[in-house]
Amino acid sequence: MKINARDEKRLVMEILTKWGLNEDNAEIVADATVDADLKGFTSHGLGRFNQYIVGIEHNNINLHGEIEIETETDAVALINGNYTFGQISAYKAMKIAIEKAKKLGISAVGTHNSNHFGVTGFYADLAVKEGLIGIVLANTAPAIAPLGGKTPVLGTNPIAISIPSDNTFIATDMATSASARGKLLEAKRKGEKIPEGIALDGDGNPTTDPVEALKGSILPFGAHKGYALAFMIEILTGPLVGAGYGTGVQGTADPTVKSTKGDLFIAIDPEKFVGREVFKEKTDDFINELRTTTPNTIVPGDIESKNIENRTDKCLDIDPELYKILNSICEEVNINLDDYTC
Ligand SMILES: NC(=O)c1ccc[n+]([C@@H]2O[C@H](COP(=O)([O-])OP(=O)(O)OC[C@H]3O[C@@H](n4cnc5c(N)ncnc54)[C@H](O)[C@@H]3O)[C@@H](O)[C@H]2O)c1
Repeated sequence: MKINARDEKRLVMEILTKWGLNEDNAEIVADATVDADLKGFTSHGLGRFNQYIVGIEHNNINLHGEIEIETETDAVALINGNYTFGQISAYKAMKIAIEKAKKLGISAVGTHNSNHFGVTGFYADLAVKEGLIGIVLANTAPAIAPLGGKTPVLGTNPIAISIPSDNTFIATDMATSASARGKLLEAKRKGEKIPEGIALDGDGNPTTDPVEALKGSILPFGAHKGYALAFMIEILTGPLVGAGYGTGVQGTADPTVKSTKGDLFIAIDPEKFVGREVFKEKTDDFINELRTTTPNTIVPGDIESKNIENRTDKCLDIDPELYKILNSICEEVNINLDDYTC
């Protein structure tokens, strides 16, 4: 079974509006979902959708809620996400950060009472669309054990940075765990093994079985460096923004409980530093240097932009288990899934 990006967006919007989400907010969630699948982060696109439906069914995603600015200065805002879709609070928080940064050069907006928002890079890219640099951090329910331990205390705490350029999509978007938890869920659904060296089982032993890894912990990427970065992100998206931290974070992996995660959205306007054009010129010069010295190298963002190019307008695979899950979601709201598939 396959689906193309245009029909995926139509399908997500149709499901969500039937659940009662308004058209504008449904479009934000649909765009974030399609962005994940086009970039190749399929663990955070349609494949993650059943989690959101469970969240709606348990009233942990508020279809009629709107974000609320709790405190605000010219450069900073703290937002209560009011348990809307994480995609909606993240989109709106980043838009606020962009507007503030255009005036001041830099802005940081934090959110709490927010939900899982899919791919982190989607929100960093919003800044780039307006000529700004975007940085997004989030925490999640615990998945990484402190170095030397086996009990998860830190989230997979993603970071995304996107940089404006006229020539290249420059971005990085990653979990600080060796793999996003979503990839373990995807491997479990498909009945596949996970790569060696990324996860431990509940007893702290290495495992390639996603089921055992989900009961245990995921290693940080890059040993102590990933651990340290996950630790810092936990603080910037927990204590700083009035959200949960450590084992106090829940609801991103288990949608049957209310989310206590937090996010931080940072926008920087190069215009207030060296000027946007000079910044882009120098950045492009640096990229040219990389590509000249190492012709086969991958500039951060190359993989995503190649995936977008190759996957837009193509019919993308839906594995049999995902088809079954989507079909039962569609049946509940009287949608014929096959009207949307290739
Ligand atoms: N919503 C959440 O709470 C949450 C939590 C964790 C992760 N995520 C998402 O999961 C997705 C996957 O995360 P991941 O860490 O498993 O990603 P990954 O390891 O597949 O890729 C991380 C980054 O490295 C880049 N990359 C990969 N190979 C490269 C190479 N050889 N050279 C240069 N760059 C290279 C990728 O393009 C990407 O930008 C991301 O979109 C992330 O935002 C979301």
